[in-house]
Amino acid sequence: MSAKWKCLVCGYIHEGENPPEVCPICGVGPEQFERIQEVSEQKDNKAVQEPKDGTSVVEPMDRETAIIQSLYAISYGLYIISAHHDGVDNGQCANTCFQITAEPPRIAIGINKNNYTHELITQSGKFGVSVLNQQGHDYVRLFGFRSGRNIEKFADIPNVHRGESGILLLDDVIATVEAEVIGELDAGTHTLFLGEVKAGEVRQKAEPMTYAYYRATK
Ligand SMILES: Cc1cc2nc3c(=O)[nH]c(=O)nc-3n(C[C@H](O)[C@H](O)[C@H](O)COP(=O)(O)O)c2cc1C
Repeated sequence: MSAKWKCLVCGYIHEGENPPEVCPICGVGPEQFERIQEVSEQKDNKAVQEPKDGTSVVEPMDRETAIIQSLYAISYGLYIISAHHDGVDNGQCANTCFQITAEPPRIAIGINKNNYTHELITQSGKFGVSVLNQQGHDYVRLFGFRSGRNIEKFADIPNVHRGESGILLLDDVIATVEAEVIGELDAGTHTLFLGEVKAGEVRQKAEPMTYAYYRATK
């Protein structure tokens, strides 16, 4: 019997007897995979919809698969979350960034506790967000698959500027946001940082990079 494995960093689901050597989405190794279920032949989800315009019939699936697949239906953007502390700059790719309230302007990000960016955000109490456009694949590759503990990710990028907070932000993006951490929720492997937005800049009129678009075009 085969099993399903979930990447604890980016949520990618792998099916097989063992976890993959490398996560094809975020590049982490097998140690970051958690076994989530045996693949069963049982089809007990009865909530199959009749097709409507632009939709197709969904095959019946078991409960666990339905949970995983339903989470894939949630849309995300892709962002470079950056931080600055004690003369050090770093950033990482993240899809978990979303507005909580517009008034007051507050956003949240979900960051893995092992990430160097997590360390810098915790130390500085601030983070920056660069909103990627649909040409941002190179930024995902640079910031999403390697840790700032081993390389200086910003070293070879000429198109950056410091925001009001002193955090490095990308120039070639749709918008940038700078926030101060006003709350934290321990989510197990990740911390959910709640940020009060202190500055924002719109830099381009362009289509944002969604997680779905990235997966379809990478
Ligand atoms: C498409 C994509 C989405 C990701 N989303 C997240 C995320 O939401 N939260 C997170 O902590 N890591 C996420 N990651 C993984 C981090 O970007 C990755 O672990 C990074 O190397 C951490 O770098 P750091 O150690 O320099 O902070 C994502 C990676 C990719 C490629």
